[in-house]
Amino acid sequence: MASFGLTLYSFVYIGLLFCGFCLAADPFANFELDFSYITASPLGVPQQVIAVNGKFPGPTLNVTTNYNVVVNVKNRLDESLLVTWPGIEMRRTSWQDGVLGTNCPIPAKWNWTYQFQVKDQIGSYYYAPSINFQRASGGFGGFIITNRKVISLPFNTPDGDIVITIGDWYTRNHKELRASLDAGKELGMPDGVLINGKGPFQYNSSVPDGIEHETLNVDPGKTYRIRVVNVGISTCLNFRIQSHTLVLAETEGHYTSQQNYSSLDIHVGQSYSFLVTMDQNGTSDYYVVASARFVNQSEWNQVTGVAILHYSNSKSRAAGPLPDPPNDSNDNSFAVNQAMSIRMNNTASGARPNPQGSFRYGSINVTDVYVLKSVPPVMINGKKRATFNGISFVNPETPVRLADNYKVKGSYKLDFPNMPLDRPPTMDRSLINATYKAFVEIVLENNDTVVQSFHMDGYSFFVVGMAYGEWTENSRGSYNRWDAVARSTTQVFPGGWTAILVYLDNAGAWNLRAVNLDRWYLGQETYMRIINPEDDGQKTEMPPPGNVLFCGALAHFQKPQRISASDALRIEGLLKLKSKILVVFVVVIYMMI
Ligand SMILES: *[C@@H]1O[C@H](CO)[C@@H](O)[C@H](O)[C@H]1NC(C)=O
Ligand SMILES: *[C@@H]1O[C@H](CO)[C@@H](O)[C@H](O)[C@H]1NC(C)=O
Ligand SMILES: *[C@@H]1O[C@H](CO)[C@@H](O)[C@H](O)[C@H]1NC(C)=O
Ligand SMILES: *[C@@H]1O[C@H](CO)[C@@H](O)[C@H](O)[C@H]1NC(C)=O
Ligand SMILES: *[C@@H]1O[C@H](CO)[C@@H](O)[C@H](O)[C@H]1NC(C)=O
Ligand SMILES: *[C@@H]1O[C@H](CO)[C@@H](O)[C@H](O)[C@H]1NC(C)=O
Ligand SMILES: *[C@@H]1O[C@H](CO)[C@@H](O)[C@H](O)[C@H]1NC(C)=O
Ligand SMILES: *[C@@H]1O[C@H](CO)[C@@H](O)[C@H](O)[C@H]1NC(C)=O
Ligand SMILES: *[C@@H]1O[C@H](CO)[C@@H](O)[C@H](O)[C@H]1NC(C)=O
Ligand SMILES: *[C@@H]1O[C@H](CO)[C@@H](O)[C@H](O)[C@H]1NC(C)=O
Ligand SMILES: *[C@@H]1O[C@H](CO)[C@@H](O)[C@H](O)[C@H]1NC(C)=O
Repeated sequence: MASFGLTLYSFVYIGLLFCGFCLAADPFANFELDFSYITASPLGVPQQVIAVNGKFPGPTLNVTTNYNVVVNVKNRLDESLLVTWPGIEMRRTSWQDGVLGTNCPIPAKWNWTYQFQVKDQIGSYYYAPSINFQRASGGFGGFIITNRKVISLPFNTPDGDIVITIGDWYTRNHKELRASLDAGKELGMPDGVLINGKGPFQYNSSVPDGIEHETLNVDPGKTYRIRVVNVGISTCLNFRIQSHTLVLAETEGHYTSQQNYSSLDIHVGQSYSFLVTMDQNGTSDYYVVASARFVNQSEWNQVTGVAILHYSNSKSRAAGPLPDPPNDSNDNSFAVNQAMSIRMNNTASGARPNPQGSFRYGSINVTDVYVLKSVPPVMINGKKRATFNGISFVNPETPVRLADNYKVKGSYKLDFPNMPLDRPPTMDRSLINATYKAFVEIVLENNDTVVQSFHMDGYSFFVVGMAYGEWTENSRGSYNRWDAVARSTTQVFPGGWTAILVYLDNAGAWNLRAVNLDRWYLGQETYMRIINPEDDGQKTEMPPPGNVLFCGALAHFQKPQRISASDALRIEGLLKLKSKILVVFVVVIYMMI
């Protein structure tokens, strides 16, 4: 009996560990990501940055649709860490989302293993730390999901696949920056822009000596898929490649209708794939530029990233002035029109053989409307805080669904207002009590003075409208109800609004936030708690993972990380198995009676 039990145990153990909730046929991709401090000088000034596996930026994770991704995150920092995967939908498992409302932080010197399936997804994403302002020091990298071989791409297979992270950068580290915010100060102008963790090529004498720049090596005549992610803090960057056309092909998991751009604005947290043909003659190298947008160009000149596109037959270095950014200082409709020109290719297959356009969002009736308004940071209880609808979010000490599972009362409130209210701003643990399978319209109003990006975890949404001025019910007449692109991060211009539609079919607690790191840090976020009232036991939402971390009111459940963690998992498995055997046993006895 004992030996039988052991055999059964080993069998189920493998099942639990590797295939609790997936199709056995879907492969596993295992990663070890080791977060530590290193010293680097991307802008010529030595500073502490967060490396992943010793590299800054971290390695790109490259998986295929439906893979089960297992990432063991080792926290070698001196403070707690959580890693989030924006745009990865984490179906039915907000337990793996890596934000404070869903996960307890990974304490310094501990490790924690994320496991999720990239179900029915393709596209370009990134990972980054979500707490303590750490993204400002690094810890980020690309995350791409390639299509299965059986699903064809809506373009010829590119000759190469290049991932580029761009972002504004300070020579102060994340601790100094958050100390400024804690003291109620603005961060001020960034010190530069990094491209793949490197500073600008010395395109003129305004760039100091001794800065290492990034070089992209290409062959003439070939076409590359260049994926660009803005992992920065708060600056929208205009991306362009001298003398080359950017054919926009994908954004955050959906193929776009392919169109040519000479440059594109990439807001904080956004990702794009461009098809770029090396159709120049290689007389010289070319500039790759990411420059600050919606700021005074002459004052923000230093906030410019420059890399080099190097043809294998190139005869000389790049020289002369950088290619111009859009000149739209007298035309604020340019940027909105560009954003709305990004359309879904409705006939392309995404991750599945059926076309992306088969979900006819335009003919579905909206069941709930939320208007979320942001304003410039305000003083609340003597602290400078940022708000949505007058509420500056305070993270629950016990993550939302963990509190629900263990019946911890009062961890959070479900009273987030659907509309901006005429009352003084407050700090609160207010969540949106959203309805499972509702089809909702969210209008994001930006009364702040800076362009914002807004992200929703666990979902892609349709960006149906965007404009300056007040949103009114009549604005609905301008919505794109046919081929709006689905994505997970959208810009909202100051003095304007953006409207999105989303079908709430992914149960869990999902973060809605400003991606601008300063605003997020100051509380401009909330969560949508989306629960199936008829939950049939784990069909709509997975139970907490076996390695779930406990904190807050449940901290007493947390074992110190002293036994080797593989033992810990095995013990978990054994406990689960015991309860399963008990159930089987009871059922058998019942049947015998
Ligand atoms: C920590 O890492 C070890 C391997 O280095 C792994 O076996 C263990 O499962 C990890 N712990 C957690 C809680 O994920
Ligand atoms: C990702 O992997 C695929 C093969 O699965 C490969 O074709 C592609 O070049 C890789 N992309 C990157 C950026 O490494
Ligand atoms: C360097 O180039 C930038 C823009 O391309 C320009 O604004 C600036 O005046 C130039 N600086 C010098 C010193 O040439
Ligand atoms: C788009 O750019 C490509 C070069 O990358 C060019 O071959 C094509 O003709 C352009 N299409 C349009 C409509 O301009
Ligand atoms: C290469 O192209 C540039 C501009 O596009 C042109 O000025 C130059 O003459 C060309 N060189 C050769 C060798 O064709
Ligand atoms: C941009 O900054 C320059 C230099 O400070 C200033 O002279 C100019 O008026 C500013 N332009 C705008 C549009 O604010
Ligand atoms: C931008 O366009 C305006 C006209 O709309 C023109 O007056 C101005 O000189 C242009 N600026 C640059 C830098 O080209
Ligand atoms: C849309 O996708 C189809 C593949 O289904 C492709 O043949 C077509 O070129 C794409 N159209 C555009 C405009 O991107
Ligand atoms: C949407 O609402 C309209 C009017 O309220 C109604 O006539 C229509 O049947 C509804 N459509 C669906 C798909 O429920
Ligand atoms: C949340 O919404 C559901 C209906 O969708 C309602 O039954 C429940 O009472 C609400 N909870 C709170 C705390 O408002
Ligand atoms: C913010 O709202 C006020 C009042 O509606 C309005 O006067 C102001 O122009 C708005 N500012 C921005 C940047 O939207």
